[in-house]
Amino acid sequence: MRRDVRILLLGEAQVGKTSLILSLVGEAFPDEVPPRAEEITIPADVTPEKVPTRIVDSSEAEQTAAELQDEIRKANVVCVVYDVSEEATIEKIWTKWIPLVNGGAEAGRRVPIILVGNKSDLRPGSSLEAVLPIMSQFAEIETCVECSAKSLRNVSELFYYAQKAVLHPTAPLYDAEAKQLQPACAQALTRVFRLSDQDLDQVLSDQELNAFQESCFGRPLAPQALEDVKMVVSRHVAGGVREDGLTLEGFLFLNTLFIQRGRHETTWAILRRFGYSDTLELTADYLSPPLHVPPGCSTELSHLGYQFVQRAFEKHDQDRDGALSPAELRSLFSVFPEAPWGPGLPSTVPTEAGRLPLHGYLCQWTLLAYLDVRRCLGHLGYLGYPTLCGQDSQAQAITVTREKRLDQEKGQTQRRVLLCKVLGAPGVGKSAFLQAFLGRGLGESPAEPPAHAINTVHVRGQEKYLILCEVGTAGPPDASCDVACLLFDGSDPQSFLHCAGIYKRHYVDGQTPCLFVSSKADLPEGPAAPGPSPAEFCRRHRLPAPARFSCTGPALPRASVYTQLATMATFPHLAQAERGPSCSWLRGLLGALGAAAVAILSFSLYRVLRSR
Ligand code: GTP
Ligand code: MG
Repeated sequence: MRRDVRILLLGEAQVGKTSLILSLVGEAFPDEVPPRAEEITIPADVTPEKVPTRIVDSSEAEQTAAELQDEIRKANVVCVVYDVSEEATIEKIWTKWIPLVNGGAEAGRRVPIILVGNKSDLRPGSSLEAVLPIMSQFAEIETCVECSAKSLRNVSELFYYAQKAVLHPTAPLYDAEAKQLQPACAQALTRVFRLSDQDLDQVLSDQELNAFQESCFGRPLAPQALEDVKMVVSRHVAGGVREDGLTLEGFLFLNTLFIQRGRHETTWAILRRFGYSDTLELTADYLSPPLHVPPGCSTELSHLGYQFVQRAFEKHDQDRDGALSPAELRSLFSVFPEAPWGPGLPSTVPTEAGRLPLHGYLCQWTLLAYLDVRRCLGHLGYLGYPTLCGQDSQAQAITVTREKRLDQEKGQTQRRVLLCKVLGAPGVGKSAFLQAFLGRGLGESPAEPPAHAINTVHVRGQEKYLILCEVGTAGPPDASCDVACLLFDGSDPQSFLHCAGIYKRHYVDGQTPCLFVSSKADLPEGPAAPGPSPAEFCRRHRLPAPARFSCTGPALPRASVYTQLATMATFPHLAQAERGPSCSWLRGLLGALGAAAVAILSFSLYRVLRSR
């Protein structure tokens, strides 16, 4: 919505433009008026819509044509004033003023116009009949008002209408010629209806209407008002009310009625609360609210975020079988401009016979929040998070974690979501390793395996999400992660050399816990490669012994490697402790004894030296 309004008064000489402005400001009819009033600014707090409003007079006698054009360009709304007692001034609206306004506006911008019939004190009847044909010809005319600067009739109303025409324009909402809602408006209201229909029974119950009313206007409807609304709707639209609830047709009709009765600010209030701009698109502010993610921090759904997405799941799981079928997923996405989760989804998260169980669904949200928090915020926006949760923005659905460096200093992390990069030579079974994490065997792998797989694992009684990210053979441009899984084929010694190379290039500094995993453990081991064996290599580099992994065989031993990876990611120092008993013992001793140990050591040294 605009934060200021500029109103320009135009029209034939002597119709009373200057008098109208001075009457408004002085609350009395001025006997003497200058040709042109000074530009005035009405402060926000005294205007009905609480926005600062500038009122600009014009005078053909005082201004050049170029100056007039310039004023039209700057105006947000133009009041074309005529004299109700002078037919000729009405004629000029057609022939001169509207063409001038439309010609003066920037290309593509249509300035709303208000027709103002002044000097109503001089004419007993109404001039409406004469201006109606003009109104029906030009859609940019918002409304027509008759007033009198002399008797002060409708003067403040006129400026209120002008303000409203800018702040709550009719044109995007309503097609005056066809007498129906504009398609974009009906579409936006349909989304609002779907989001407000919490049980998805295609009607808004009293309780849902009240929740809707409260989130848009801050207060529930009185019980009588609720009944009145339903009565009006059922009288006008067959099928507008069903099972004592408001249907979509009823809801759209109600909004049409608001607009037809000049109460379009009500419809605008609803649309704006659900994130729409003046052009009926969801605003960037709404879809992408500010969220600061400092370097080294990650993003996860907060408790509120998980609660919200789970509610959406339960709403669309219509058959209550704990999983979303493709049709139920489409219903969830019906409030999105397009289906947001691509065809890769089923091979990224755990699924059940082509359906998405709650667990897999939460995994997907977790992955999105971690990898692309901006998109995640957008998706929460489409689902109406701020409105339905009564919060400022979706940012409250996101937790920004502590900086990685601090986690490393403390030797553990509070993150619930951990990233593991899976690296290795072509053909070692990286994709199969990812798919096995989702419980899929060799024959069940997709033709085009995605780069990610996410599932939960338990680390010392705590549930953690582990994201496996397959990294291509070129080696990672960015090797950073919470734990690295260096996968080699136990039957192919060359593939181990490849892994050892990756380790030396990216992880030898010891910042990231690393686990070598020997895949295809069901196959016989190949001939030894030159140089140290994998076990020897790990010992020398103080890494945990290589884990053996096979996609075939019982699931349980297979799962332990994922738990080991998640544990290493959660407690990076433990990965080091496992490097060898002597090493960790010495570290522990030095840590515990500190200075005392050093003192004892130097004392013994002194004794040895003295005895010599
Ligand atoms: P220009 O500056 O020449 O373009 O004219 P204007 O449109 O500013 O008109 P202005 O306010 O100067 O008024 C013209 C005449 O109409 C003055 O004599 C006013 O007193 C008179 N007048 C303005 N408003 C009314 C009204 O509501 N009723 C009556 N009876 N006379 C009015
Ligand atoms: Mg004047």
